[in-house]
Amino acid sequence: MTQDQQSTYAIHPIDVILHKRDGLALTDAEIRAFIRAIVDRTPRKQLVTDAQIAAFLMAVFLHGLDPRELATLTEAMRFSGEVAYTEALNTFTIDKHSTGGVGDKTSLLIAPILAAAGLAHPTRDGVPGIVVPMISGRSLGHTGGTLDKLETIPGFNTQLSFAEMRDVLRECAAALIGQTPAIVPADRILYALRDHTGTVESPFLIAASIMSKKLAEGLNALVLDVKVGSGAFMPTYEKSKFLAELMVRTGETSRTRTVALLTTMDEPLGRFSGNWVEVWECVDIMKQVRHPMSADLIELTNILSGWMLHLAGQADSPEEGAKLSDEILRSGAAYKAWLKIIAAQGGDTTLFEDPASHHKPTATRILTASQSGYLTGMDCKQVGWAVQRLGAGRAIPGDPVSSHAGIEMHAKLGDKLEANQPLVTLFSEDASLLDEPEAMLRKTLQITNAPIAKQPLIREVITANSLT
Ligand code: URA
Repeated sequence: MTQDQQSTYAIHPIDVILHKRDGLALTDAEIRAFIRAIVDRTPRKQLVTDAQIAAFLMAVFLHGLDPRELATLTEAMRFSGEVAYTEALNTFTIDKHSTGGVGDKTSLLIAPILAAAGLAHPTRDGVPGIVVPMISGRSLGHTGGTLDKLETIPGFNTQLSFAEMRDVLRECAAALIGQTPAIVPADRILYALRDHTGTVESPFLIAASIMSKKLAEGLNALVLDVKVGSGAFMPTYEKSKFLAELMVRTGETSRTRTVALLTTMDEPLGRFSGNWVEVWECVDIMKQVRHPMSADLIELTNILSGWMLHLAGQADSPEEGAKLSDEILRSGAAYKAWLKIIAAQGGDTTLFEDPASHHKPTATRILTASQSGYLTGMDCKQVGWAVQRLGAGRAIPGDPVSSHAGIEMHAKLGDKLEANQPLVTLFSEDASLLDEPEAMLRKTLQITNAPIAKQPLIREVITANSLT
């Protein structure tokens, strides 16, 4: 009998825990049985208890997983619920995932850029030649969530079934939806327990969590934006790189071309951080209103889209892809695709005619430079927390977020400043929420007499070929 022919329930959770606790490699059958037991259990039939799941998580945290175990865990999680079955569209399916940052709104630009490219080159069946089935998340810790930003658009429905998503993809080439309880239910259960057992930071568990959800979209290719720097989740460059390598290897094992870019997150990306303000910034860019503070956002967007266009076969190199991406932005094709996607998902597109007029914070405060000099440092995580505390994020899961809370940065790292010039504008819908974020920003933004050398935006690219 092969491993796969073994009855999954003939494997007892306690044995799986003991094997991992003792540092042994788990068999594929053991991993699959454990994940099946997690999702098949009911209150009356406790195939595996929370205590056992917690013990399993800690054993994985302490001993890690080899590449085969990680690939099997990711696949078992991926197929623990509904999968998108985008293969039915018979086209090239691609997505991007970011490990999360401050002001990181590239998804709002990348989806319409790739959609415009897909709509311009349909297949023989009339389906767009590239589709982007983007499943996004909500704000997490100090970082914002694409879903929270999109939900500031009145009427926009992110809760589509996979069948509805395929209809939007056929028409618009991209769909922007949220996770439902039916998608990768194993991750929801594991994540909740990780949060309570000190096992969130395991790179193996993070890789399985992220990749199971992305691969459930049925992708041909995936581009990962793995952040490094003071605003990244991973505390060191080495840990970010290790996570990137795990994810690239896992994606490739699942026959999804996977590339990871290690990108700098030492300061908020672009001009605004918040919810509606980030939509506004992206709409401006798509309408060729390029604010100087958005330059890094546009650059990163074009580099990530460039890789995606290259992997999708529309550009000979990532560099050619980046040029094509910028052309798509400048031509207005991305904006047209954006309007189509938003309308197809029920959103009110009239707001985009004058996005600035829909920014309605009731409390605003300007933080000015305390002295002249150069902006030379900040703890970007603290900046992210300041944005969240203005009301853009939630203290408790399920809380509503404020559409109009956020910040506008008026300087980038390395910029020369005059004393009293505006540094950051804070926005909130509650004046009592301004003081703490202001103090946090004042404390973390460093002005010194001498300039600094800035880290480049792209630090390293990890592909299947660069894996050791
Ligand atoms: N994002 C996820 O989806 N999972 C993790 O474990 C961490 C970040």
